[in-house]
Amino acid sequence: MSDGVTSPPGDLPSSIEIDKPNAARIYDYMLGGSHNFEVDRKFADDMMAATNLTPRSYRMNRSFLRRAVRFMVERGVDQFLDLGSGIPTVGNVHEIGQAANESVRVVYVDNEPVAVSHSRRMLADNPNATIVDADLRDPQAVLDDPETRRLLDFSRPIGLLMVAIFHFIPDGDRPVEIVRRYREALQGGGYLALSHFTGDEQAKVNAHHGIEWYKQTANPLIMRGKAEVAAMLEGVDLVDPGLVWVQRWRPDNSEPELVNVSESAIYGAVGRLDAATDMG
Ligand SMILES: C[S@@+](CC[C@H](N)C(=O)[O-])C[C@H]1O[C@@H](n2cnc3c(N)ncnc32)[C@H](O)[C@@H]1O
Repeated sequence: MSDGVTSPPGDLPSSIEIDKPNAARIYDYMLGGSHNFEVDRKFADDMMAATNLTPRSYRMNRSFLRRAVRFMVERGVDQFLDLGSGIPTVGNVHEIGQAANESVRVVYVDNEPVAVSHSRRMLADNPNATIVDADLRDPQAVLDDPETRRLLDFSRPIGLLMVAIFHFIPDGDRPVEIVRRYREALQGGGYLALSHFTGDEQAKVNAHHGIEWYKQTANPLIMRGKAEVAAMLEGVDLVDPGLVWVQRWRPDNSEPELVNVSESAIYGAVGRLDAATDMG
């Protein structure tokens, strides 16, 4: 797929929009993956040539996801609901989780055909991980999906992952309400990880460019400030260091120190759900 194709290869659904760049495939390209089309690569290359945007922001977000999953696994979480999971590239949630604990179960959710199709293929032989083809804005459909019910036990702690998705969800779709609906379903508590694109502080210029450029894609970006992101996490018992630039969330020294601390342009946090559940 990494050659300059103009129509979906035969093994992918014909519904794929190949003439318009798409956030899932741009992200895959920025992470060094090969599940993207010429239209995505050209968009990303042109955007980087015209702005200060680099793949580093995307990679910092992905590293945050990795650290957040490890953090949860270390605290006994062995099942995950990953909303807007993206195209499977190296270092997926099930790989991170199952490396530490073979019995970790993961339900991925995405509605981008390439992400769904590759996830399906990659997970075919993995009985403990699956992909649900659904719109995350419809929590009932996600939560009632037979695959979700097959793998996740909602009476036990779950790791709820909402990483780099809400900047694609406009206020009109009520993101705070969406977070609340998923949280309510986690009767056994667990942890939540959330990250979100922002234009705060020094990220202002990059955010402006990101918004302008992503207007050409199937997934226009929405920028939110720290208070708006915090509102999505209201009532969640955030673990230290709270809501911070993703690269500042419990860094493991694998990232270079940044000259500009807001270079990622993405905030991230992890919190404990249901403080009554003592998971250590
Ligand atoms: C930037 S990627 C993030 C991937 C992964 N969560 C990470 O942070 O590494 C955003 C993903 O959200 C998916 N997405 C966006 N809106 C969605 C929706 N309404 N329902 C399901 N998936 C959605 C996109 O298809 C894309 O794969």
